[in-house]
Amino acid sequence: MNSINGKTKTLGLIGNPVEHTMSPFIQNLFAEHMGINMVYVPFHVEKGRLEGAIIGAKALSLIGNNITVPYKVDVLSFIDVLDQRAKIIGAANTLKYSDDQVFGYNTDAAGFLTSCQNEGVFFEDKVVCILGAGGAAKAISVVCAEQKAKKLIIVNRTLDKAEALKNTIQQYFNIEIEVQDYAEVLKLKEANICIQTTSIGMYPNIKETPIGESTFFRNLEWAIDAIYNPSETRFLSLARENGVKTLNGLGMLYYQAVKAFEIWHDVIIPQPIIEKCFKLFNDYIYSR
Ligand code: ATR
Repeated sequence: MNSINGKTKTLGLIGNPVEHTMSPFIQNLFAEHMGINMVYVPFHVEKGRLEGAIIGAKALSLIGNNITVPYKVDVLSFIDVLDQRAKIIGAANTLKYSDDQVFGYNTDAAGFLTSCQNEGVFFEDKVVCILGAGGAAKAISVVCAEQKAKKLIIVNRTLDKAEALKNTIQQYFNIEIEVQDYAEVLKLKEANICIQTTSIGMYPNIKETPIGESTFFRNLEWAIDAIYNPSETRFLSLARENGVKTLNGLGMLYYQAVKAFEIWHDVIIPQPIIEKCFKLFNDYIYSR
C-alpha cells in the first residue's frame, strides 16, 4: 500500500453493508500482479444516497465501481449504456466511468460460466434444475439459456418469482422452462445438473439444505452451489456422497472479479496470473 502516489487510480465497492466483502482483496491482488497503479476500497453508501455516490464517483474520476446489495437493481437508473446480460438479468454489479458516461455490466453471469467451463461443466442439451429465483438464479439462468441447455426447471419457495424469471428468460431465449415447488422437485429424475442459488446452508447455518433426500441426487451428473462458505455445503456433501460431481461458488465469485478488472483496465489477465491469484484467494478464504 505504500506504493500509493499522485498517479494512483481509485475503484471500489458500493453497497450496504460492505464490511465482509472479498472484492478489495481480489482486486488489489490483481493490481499488484498486473502492475497497475490503483487502489480498490469499500464504500458504505446509506439508503437514498446511491445517486449522490455515483455523481461523486464520476466527479472524483474513479475508474469504476462494483455494486452489491441492496443497489444492484436501483443502479440501473443511473447507467447510460447497459450490457445485454445486465439488461436481461435486470441488475448490474459493475460500473465503468468513461467519457462522462456510465457503462453498466453484470459480470456474475461471466463468472459463473468461466467457473463451470474450468471444471468441465457444460450445459448444452442438459436438463438443469435451479434452486432459487433471486439475483444469482437470474444470472445463472441466463448462462444456461445462452449455453443452449435443453430445459430449465426453476424451483422456488415463492412460485410467483420463479414464474417471473421463467417469463424473463423466455422473452430472450427459445428454451423450455418448468416451474416447480420443493415438494414436486423431489420426484425429478431427468435433471443432469442442479444449481443451488439460495442462502440455505450458508455459514453459520451449515446443517441446512434446500434438498435433503439422497434419492434426488442419484441421477445427477453435477451439483453446483453458489455458496462458498462453507466450502462444502450440506447440499454438496449429500451430492458427493451419492456419486455426483460438485462445484462450490468460490470460482463464480472470483471470475466475476476477473471480468470486472478486465473491463475497467481494458486488459486480459494472463492465465498464469489468474491461476496464481486464485490459489492465493483460495488460501486466504479457507485458512482464516
Ligand atoms: P441472491 O441475490 O443471493 O440470489 P436474493 O435475490 O435475495 O439473493 O434471492 C434469495 C433466494 O433464496 C430466493 O430464491 C429465495 O426464495 P424466495 O423467493 O421464496 O424468497 C431463496 N431463499 C432464501 N431463504 C430461503 C428459505 N429459507 N427457504 C427457501 N428459499 C429461500
